[in-house]
Amino acid sequence: MKLSVLPLLLLGVFGLAVATDYPLDAPAPDGRRAGGTISQSLPTPAIANEENKDLKRERNYPEQPPTIPHSISGYQVDANGNKCLTCHSRAGSARSQAPMISITHYMDRDGQPLAAVAPLRYFCTQCHVSQHEVKPLVENDFQNIDQLLQGEAANAAKP
Ligand code: HEC
Ligand code: HEC
Repeated sequence: MKLSVLPLLLLGVFGLAVATDYPLDAPAPDGRRAGGTISQSLPTPAIANEENKDLKRERNYPEQPPTIPHSISGYQVDANGNKCLTCHSRAGSARSQAPMISITHYMDRDGQPLAAVAPLRYFCTQCHVSQHEVKPLVENDFQNIDQLLQGEAANAAKP
C-alpha cells in the first residue's frame, strides 16, 4: 500500500514544479553593479587607483582618524614590522617630514601615556584608510558641525 503511494506523490511534486512557470533568471535588482540577471555573473570592474595626492583631507569632526592621503600598497604592518611607523613615529617624523602620530597613539586604554606606540594603536589601517579614485556608491548628505551651527544661526536671525 505505502509503496504504491510514493511514486504518485513524487509525480505530484514534479508535476507542480513543471507547472509553475517560475522566472528563474529574473533581472537582478540594480545594486552596486547595474544590469544582469540573478544567475548571471558579470565581470568585476577593474580596481580603481589609490588616491596619491599627498594632500591632507578635512576631517568631519576632530576625533576622526584622518584618511590616508598617500598610497599604502605594499606597506607591511604585522608582528614583524610596521612600515607606517618608519615615517610616522616620533623619531621617524623628523626624517620623513610626515606628521607624527598624536599623543593618543601612545596611550593605553586607561589613558596612561606609554614610552612606545600603544598596542591598541599598532594596526594603523584598523582606523586609517586610504581612498580610491571612484565616485561614491551612495549619496551622502552629512553636515559637519560648522554647517549645522551656521544653519542654526541663520534660522535664529529670521523674524
Ligand atoms: C615614506 C613615508 C611614509 C610612510 C611609510 C607612511 N606615511 Fe603616512 N604620511 C607621510 C607623509 C609625508 C604625510 C603627509 C601628507 C603627504 O605628504 O602625503 C602622510 C600623511 C598621513 C596621514 C594623514 C595625516 C593627517 O593629518 O591628515 C595618515 C592618516 C597617514 N599618513 C597614515 C599612514 C599609514 C596608516 C601608513 C602605513 C600603512 C603610512 N601613513 C605610511 C609619509 C608616510
Ligand atoms: C584605534 C584607532 C587608531 C589606530 C589603530 C591608529 N590611529 Fe592614528 N588616529 C586615530 C584618531 C582617532 C586620530 C585623530 C585624533 C587623535 O589624534 O587621536 C588619529 C590621528 C592620526 C594622525 C594625525 C596626527 C595629528 O596630530 O594630526 C596620524 C599621522 C596617524 N593617526 C597615524 C597613525 C599610524 C601611523 C598608526 C599606526 C601605527 C595609527 N595612526 C593607528 C585613530 C587611530
